[in-house]
Amino acid sequence: MSDTLSTLCASRLVPVVVLDDAADAQPLAAALVAGNLPVAEVTFRTAAAADAIRVMADRGDMLVGAGTVLTSQQVDQAVDAGASYIVSPGLSRAVVERCQEHGVLVLPGAVTATEIQAALELGLTTVKFFPAGTSGGAAAIAALTEPFAGVRFVPTGGVGPKNLHEYLAIPAVAAVGGSWMVSKDLVRAGDFAQITRIAAEGVALARQGALA
Ligand code: 3PG
Repeated sequence: MSDTLSTLCASRLVPVVVLDDAADAQPLAAALVAGNLPVAEVTFRTAAAADAIRVMADRGDMLVGAGTVLTSQQVDQAVDAGASYIVSPGLSRAVVERCQEHGVLVLPGAVTATEIQAALELGLTTVKFFPAGTSGGAAAIAALTEPFAGVRFVPTGGVGPKNLHEYLAIPAVAAVGGSWMVSKDLVRAGDFAQITRIAAEGVALARQGALA
């Protein structure tokens, strides 16, 4: 579990993926790997999620997580498909406990002091900060790090090339996530070369952001 978190932190960027068709999983995975961003959070917002996770995880050259996991059944499906970590938009005790039973890393959403305390009570120290932009952004995370030293955040929602440096400059921010790296339109158009370019650009920006 700590290895998964270290890999996630090393990439500093998590592409949030919504795939309508699992047939796009293979070319998308190849595009992200080619962009030097071998990470994906495949969301359970579509029926293709579990199959897409399986295809990507079977490659063995990327870190594949499941996003928008709302139920313990979805945790089971995601883990069965090969997901290495689970992300939830909010904090669900049932989801967290099922992940702990499976021994997989879980990043539940938490944006208030109360939600962070609830995550701590469940034995977690890293949370998704979602939706970051409308929950106070980087300033809110910076304020929360005062009482919650040791808690790490993965802000997602409203994070993009223009503002990711604001988040990555905060030492408690482990990585940032976002959907801008895998636009649905580019996937639909089959323009995976453009996804590779955007991913590579994101990796370069994240490096600069981390140094800022
Ligand atoms: C998520 O699930 O993390 C968000 O939908 C991604 O937010 P974004 O589309 O603003 O990047």
